[in-house]
Amino acid sequence: MRGDDRARRADALRALGLGDEDLAAWRESALPEERFDDWVTDRVARRPSGSRAREVYGAEDAHDFARRAILDALALGPDDHLLEVGCGGGLLLRDALASGARATGIDHSEEMVELASERASGAEVMVAKAESLPFQSEAFTAVAMAIVFFFLDDPGRVLGECRRVMRRGGRVAIYTTGPELRGTPAAPEPIASRGHFYSDQELADLARRADFHDTTVRNEQGGQLLTAHA
Ligand SMILES: C[S@@+](CC[C@H](N)C(=O)[O-])C[C@H]1O[C@@H](n2cnc3c(N)ncnc32)[C@H](O)[C@@H]1O
Repeated sequence: MRGDDRARRADALRALGLGDEDLAAWRESALPEERFDDWVTDRVARRPSGSRAREVYGAEDAHDFARRAILDALALGPDDHLLEVGCGGGLLLRDALASGARATGIDHSEEMVELASERASGAEVMVAKAESLPFQSEAFTAVAMAIVFFFLDDPGRVLGECRRVMRRGGRVAIYTTGPELRGTPAAPEPIASRGHFYSDQELADLARRADFHDTTVRNEQGGQLLTAHA
């Protein structure tokens, strides 16, 4: 990497809260320059890795607004078995366990699965893809997704998988970032251009097409909470 390229990359990383370890990881990846924005999107949020990601997603305030909204909506109890898709550092799983529910989490980042296993030691956590859930049909009474939907290239397929693994009458709660937040600290570039924003109506329609019922979308200052029943 040339000196000016290196300085530009270091600035871009710093703007996202990353540092020297991440710059070294980028260099080690040996990816071509034009892949930098994709790489950094993965590193920060789409498939988090590195010590900064472990610090961010393991911290008590990691997306706590989404976690609280989802847990309030699901009102889990001892008869529930929750699946969290894209569980990150595992704090939602930990809080679900505290309500007496069983909790299972999947994430396609190995580092996040490791972290979630530490943070929610009573939960079953595994590496898996949202698009192909490794569970039998009707295994869960509730499904949660916090700041994950935005990254899904095939949301219809993932909602179909969520519906398949849920018992009839089960609850789903999905918190995602609305288009009003594009370009703000909640959805900065280059991440914003690599994700998917939906209007409230589009979110509700996606859920209905996946055979969910009683669909509602609550939008508070661009934070969208989609809830529905299987
Ligand atoms: C922005 S983080 C949010 C993590 C956690 N839910 C939270 O609220 O702190 C997005 C998480 O979803 C995971 N993820 C994204 N796309 C995924 C997919 N297709 N399958 C499985 N996990 C995915 C990422 O690895 C990452 O841990």
